[in-house]
Amino acid sequence: MHLIKRITLLIGLTATLFTAAAFAQAEGDLAARIAPVGDVYLDGEIVTANTVVESSEPAGPRSGEKIYNTYCVACHGTGAAGAPIKGKADQWTTRLTQGEATLIKHAIEGFNAMPARGTCSDCSDDEMMATVQFLIKGL
Ligand code: HEC
Repeated sequence: MHLIKRITLLIGLTATLFTAAAFAQAEGDLAARIAPVGDVYLDGEIVTANTVVESSEPAGPRSGEKIYNTYCVACHGTGAAGAPIKGKADQWTTRLTQGEATLIKHAIEGFNAMPARGTCSDCSDDEMMATVQFLIKGL
């Protein structure tokens, strides 16, 4: 008799635990159902988000001319901040004696008032090389 009581108690306890677990589960579902739309990821949305990231990646290296016109022209087209102006040979003579490799190094690392990568923080070293070559072309 004693044993049957215990078993009954055990079954009762187990049933209570299962019920509690079921309630917790239901609460979780409810929380998900009443959450604002933007907080819930649906399968299709994840794919969409990835697609957007991929399409904003540059398709390949940008040309030196394009980068110059986007990032460098503000200073090197006008002489702002004391930048040597593109095409003004006399402003480049001394600089050119350092050699192209040093000019590229300074453009990548920054040099006095010249900001690192000329503010093009996502420019690769190769893109910086192409841009410096475009900047000093024809001197
Ligand atoms: C905020 C203004 C500014 C921007 C933007 C800028 N530069 Fe400069 N740059 C300077 C200044 C100022 C100097 C001269 C620094 C000195 O000699 O003290 C300079 C110098 C240089 C030099 C010569 C370095 C040397 O050793 O003499 C190179 C090469 C150069 N910049 C490349 C670039 C390129 C490439 C970009 C664009 C990706 C760029 N700069 C964008 C201001 C700028």
